Amino acid sequence: MLRLNKITITHFKNYDFTSFEFPENVVGICGLNGKGKTNLLDAIYYCCFTKSYFSSTDQLNINFEKEGFRLEALFERQGDLQKVICIHRGAVKKEFSLNDIPYEKYSKHIGLFPAVMIAPDDIELITGSSEGRRRFVDTVLSQVDAGYLQELITYNKVLQQRNSLLKKMEDGKGDLITVLEILDEQLISPGKSLHAKRKVFLTKLIPLVQQFYKQISNNAETVSLEYISQLNAYSFESLLQAYRSKDLLVQRSNAGIHKDDIGFLLNGQVFKNIASQGQRKSLLFALKLAEFEILKFNKGFAPLLLLDDVFEKLDDRRMQQLLHWVCNENQGKVFITDTHRERLEEAFEKLGVAFQIVEL
Ligand SMILES: Nc1ncnc2c1ncn2[C@@H]1O[C@H](COP(=O)(O)OP(=O)(O)OP(=O)(O)O)[C@@H](O)[C@H]1O
Ligand SMILES: [Mg+2]
Repeated sequence: MLRLNKITITHFKNYDFTSFEFPENVVGICGLNGKGKTNLLDAIYYCCFTKSYFSSTDQLNINFEKEGFRLEALFERQGDLQKVICIHRGAVKKEFSLNDIPYEKYSKHIGLFPAVMIAPDDIELITGSSEGRRRFVDTVLSQVDAGYLQELITYNKVLQQRNSLLKKMEDGKGDLITVLEILDEQLISPGKSLHAKRKVFLTKLIPLVQQFYKQISNNAETVSLEYISQLNAYSFESLLQAYRSKDLLVQRSNAGIHKDDIGFLLNGQVFKNIASQGQRKSLLFALKLAEFEILKFNKGFAPLLLLDDVFEKLDDRRMQQLLHWVCNENQGKVFITDTHRERLEEAFEKLGVAFQIVEL
């Protein structure tokens, strides 16, 4: 069982110095627009992932009028109390510690406190570029397989070196070719392993997504998913060979798992081209709930579920179904933001679960 009992937020985004205690498993967070509901969820996410869900640079997480921020989270995991502290002092590297022992690598923290966020802009996962879908796969796999995260870090580092080398190799001849060959060699092993792990992961993910999609949508339509990767049909070695001249021409790496994608189909057609708003939302929730299930299965306890503004996305009946599933069937800890306190309270009362409301 994973719980978050308390979080203390100092100078993070719009917060000055505030503590929140969460004695109940179901937490409603309400307040008007701009009050800090999303920021509170992000502070929780930060303590689980050593980074923000929303902003890619830490500078944006520091209160505009301050020099740094501090987050302290008290978790309870499988009966043990765990204290996570992050201190960011602006210019210097942030410090991240577990039970007062600082991490040397932040990546060691990933997966200890699993969490799933569902936020309004996540619809990009369906409609946006393949990068978001790779990040989705990587986020889940990194939490269940520490080796995966290490291989991914290595792969990305070598890929970066390879791309900067390609920029230096104007004519594609000379000594640098040997360096390119060495980098290719270094890319192959993590690349193959990441591909194999993604493939296994997708075979588990796909039936879960289909099952959740059916549950959420009333329609009989079928959604299908496929793992798209150059490595499905060819060996990584032969791909690197085949793409070499193109790589040299465009000065970028064109072969590898950084080109992977997930394809979505609705009744045999490209999903985003024909799906309605509601169908897109249903697929988004199906993906996230599948992520939740996979994490829960792997960890042996439910991850934290952070739901930002989901009431805006689903009609009442679907919302009740979703809440019933997360609150009653999972005994997980769930945080839900909404601008309307009454709407939240009413929904929780209907479910008959114990809950608390945090009013910002
Ligand atoms: N680094 C920062 N320093 C100070 N304030 C910030 C910082 N980053 C964001 N904010 C402020 O935080 C507020 C937004 O908070 P947040 O997104 O959590 O609101 P919300 O309660 O989720 O609102 P909504 O209901 O509109 O989603 C804005 O007023 C924004 O200007
Ligand atoms: Mg918000």
